[in-house]
Amino acid sequence: MRNKHVIDLEDLSAKELIDIIQLSNEIQNHPKDYADACKGKILATLFYEPSTRTQMSFKTAMLRLGGSVIGFDNPQNSSVSKGESLKDTITVVGGYTDIIAIRHPLEGTAKAASMYSAAPVINAGDGGHLHPTQTLTDIVTLYNEKGSLENMTIGLCGDLKNGRTVHSLIKTMRHFKNNRFVLISTPELGVPQYIKDVMNSSDCKYVEVPSLIEAMPMLDVLYMTRIQRERFASEEEYEREKGVFVLDKEKLLSAKKDLKILHPLPRVDEITVEVDYDERAKYFIQTVYGMYARMALIKTMLDQDNRSVPPLINDTHNVKCSNPRCITAGESYLPKLFRSVGGDMLVCKYCDSRTLI
Ligand code: CP
Repeated sequence: MRNKHVIDLEDLSAKELIDIIQLSNEIQNHPKDYADACKGKILATLFYEPSTRTQMSFKTAMLRLGGSVIGFDNPQNSSVSKGESLKDTITVVGGYTDIIAIRHPLEGTAKAASMYSAAPVINAGDGGHLHPTQTLTDIVTLYNEKGSLENMTIGLCGDLKNGRTVHSLIKTMRHFKNNRFVLISTPELGVPQYIKDVMNSSDCKYVEVPSLIEAMPMLDVLYMTRIQRERFASEEEYEREKGVFVLDKEKLLSAKKDLKILHPLPRVDEITVEVDYDERAKYFIQTVYGMYARMALIKTMLDQDNRSVPPLINDTHNVKCSNPRCITAGESYLPKLFRSVGGDMLVCKYCDSRTLI
């Protein structure tokens, strides 16, 4: 792998992604051959935000590879509750362990953590920003259930604004030939500008539509997402958005016979339970693929033996990120890191939000 950390799936080339998919399938088919693959290695799972699948699949992945696991699933039970900074927590945990998986409600946290960790860091979800190992899960599912990662019309439905799994999936699928996106959301929950910029800068096509029924007949894949109560500023805003898009048996009547329905889960009410029994529903097998995908990722990263003392990083600009949900808003010592996109506009290297100079 060309990079030490996996913060964004952009950190992996298309070939590296295919290698991980193939290793994931190899491990799934021959689990005994990998039972000691990470013997003597330790994974830290630092979850500052609730999780079932990501946390437990990382843990089971490491245990099934013969390694061990430490960490917390509630920062209140750690010295974070005494005011310890992210930098100090990561510096210490990076000294104890061989690899770290971190989830945090603030955007750009995994990137910030990687700047202080001797051990490689995996982004297990940073606020509404990115969720690369969910995308790994999704592409392993697509590869196995569709037989290819190319030539698909992929519908993405629900909260496309705060849906980190959606952002990571779009960024990744545009690297494979001839994929097209149908973005199904209310105007308030459309994809952020930086994801549109990403799509516009590649040759992948996208359309934005307000209706799931209208989109259904053209889809090869339907990726449903939850309206995430925890991402809304007020309960009123959440109440306005929830329940707008619900997938049920009736809506599937016009769908293709070989449609694949994915969902990162957890689900609330956006897919009715009756759909679980439709053979096109793949969201539970998706969780199983996710465990093998994380096994493949952990093994690949640990095989590199890439511990290194992180260097000091200086500010690139003397500007504050305008995103209140950026990790730089919570951890003020972090260097101010931006890339220029022309004119008076800068893009924050932690959270990808735009800031005017
Ligand atoms: N898909 C996903 O990230 O689920 P959890 O929040 O349960 O980890």
